[in-house]
Amino acid sequence: LVLILDFGGQYTQLIARRIRELQVYCEIVPYNATYEQIQKINPRALIFSGGARSVYEPGAPAVDPRLYQMGLPILGICYGMQLMAKDLGGVVEATEKREYGKTALLVKEENQLFAGLPQEMTVWMSHGDLVKEVPPGFTVTATTDNTPIAAMGNPEANLYAVQFHPEVVHTTQGKVLLANFLFKVAALSGTWTMESFIENTVAQIRQTVGENEQAVCALSGGVDSSVAAVLVHQAIGDRLTCIFVDHGLLRKNEAEQVMATLTRIFKMKIIKVDAAEEFLEKLAGVRDPEQKRKIIGAEFIRVFEREAAKLGKIDYLVQGTVYPDVIESGTATASVIKSHHNVGGLPEDLQFKLIEPLKFLFKDEVRRLGSELRIPEELLWRHPFPGPGLAIRILGEVTREKLAILREADAIFIEEIKKAGLYREIWQAFPVLLDLRTVGVMGDQRTYAYPIALRAITSDDGMTADWYRFPHEVLARIANRIVNEVPHVNRVVYDVTTKPPATIEWE
Ligand code: XMP
Repeated sequence: LVLILDFGGQYTQLIARRIRELQVYCEIVPYNATYEQIQKINPRALIFSGGARSVYEPGAPAVDPRLYQMGLPILGICYGMQLMAKDLGGVVEATEKREYGKTALLVKEENQLFAGLPQEMTVWMSHGDLVKEVPPGFTVTATTDNTPIAAMGNPEANLYAVQFHPEVVHTTQGKVLLANFLFKVAALSGTWTMESFIENTVAQIRQTVGENEQAVCALSGGVDSSVAAVLVHQAIGDRLTCIFVDHGLLRKNEAEQVMATLTRIFKMKIIKVDAAEEFLEKLAGVRDPEQKRKIIGAEFIRVFEREAAKLGKIDYLVQGTVYPDVIESGTATASVIKSHHNVGGLPEDLQFKLIEPLKFLFKDEVRRLGSELRIPEELLWRHPFPGPGLAIRILGEVTREKLAILREADAIFIEEIKKAGLYREIWQAFPVLLDLRTVGVMGDQRTYAYPIALRAITSDDGMTADWYRFPHEVLARIANRIVNEVPHVNRVVYDVTTKPPATIEWE
């Protein structure tokens, strides 16, 4: 395992992805993980990430100096290089000018890190400070016009550092450089595959969950909980029971589709709870978005607990937590814009131990894993769907009639997107039912009915988003079908705002 120490750099997750693409398993920990914690993880190599601070600033991220004594190969990147230089007796200089963008790098001295690389290549720079003097034992191994010490190394101590970002695609040979660090410097072998991940995880779960113990999983129909459930099912079979709470806020045929896949193909034990009545009752008269989320979250836990209690003694709860959730909740202190409390999420006072088999995987890895487990593509590539479901896409009060309208509009929207072959290009697409009426004319009759707003966005992670540029004829067909086929709708508008300043959902 390779351990990445995160100094708050914007590319830290990218480093992890590149390393895993090279089939070496890695994890990210915050820079202030203690020496003992790191020892316990027992990594075979360390990577120090980039970061936004200056190493001499008071309170700047630093590491336990004992890390350098562990005899581990270390690669410092950007801030990581500056920190290594400072810690080991070199000099770092704060510069006035930031260097940002593509730069030509000249390799001065070949070492294992640059083995097989051309003498000149394009690299991606993003830094203010730079190393002015290398520490004793180090030599300068590469330079650029603005950065005389763009890379340094001490092969004897297995310490290497680069000022540029090998993890960014603009560094054309970045992946080769990382491969050199892993395979040449650290002598690792790239054997981490989805197959080996499944093997190890299944073995681990079997070891953890005793013969007489039981687990439950809250299925939401989304990718993560489905993949987690299938994986745990492989390990412990029918000692896993899934509970699928249908809160009545799902899309058309959604519950049936998920049930069909998981019960028929995987023969899993799933209890489907039809709780639509309860949820709708609790939501009656409620207009405030956060209030809706709270009610749905609390109600979900209530129903889930009630159903789980019927199963007798349950020891484990399976959760589809993925790596970005873990990283975000571990390091970020983002302000609460919406309470993204996933409805399939963790009720804090539940008396279960947790199994989170996807905890260290990125979303695309979860999909690859799902594919390896033979989960149908249809389910794996579904757009993300919020836990509170259609309730936050019906502005104002949620009623049965409005749900029916929105479901039909949604089905048409998605069907046309799929027909046009655009489904995978779009990160998320959905209609929103507005809480107002507008005038229209149909036949010779005046109508006074609801407008539907369509939202389709592209995004990497949902944190930022751009509106999707539909071909006009696709948009025209969708609008046409919705006003013609969905009763009580006489107008369709398209949302052309980015996030920020808007959010993806309207509530
Ligand atoms: P926003 O609207 O904040 O959405 O730009 C970002 C992503 O999160 C989803 N979302 C939610 N997911 N519970 C969830 O499980 C929620 O309350 C919730 N609100 C928004 C949204 O669909 C998008 O993918």
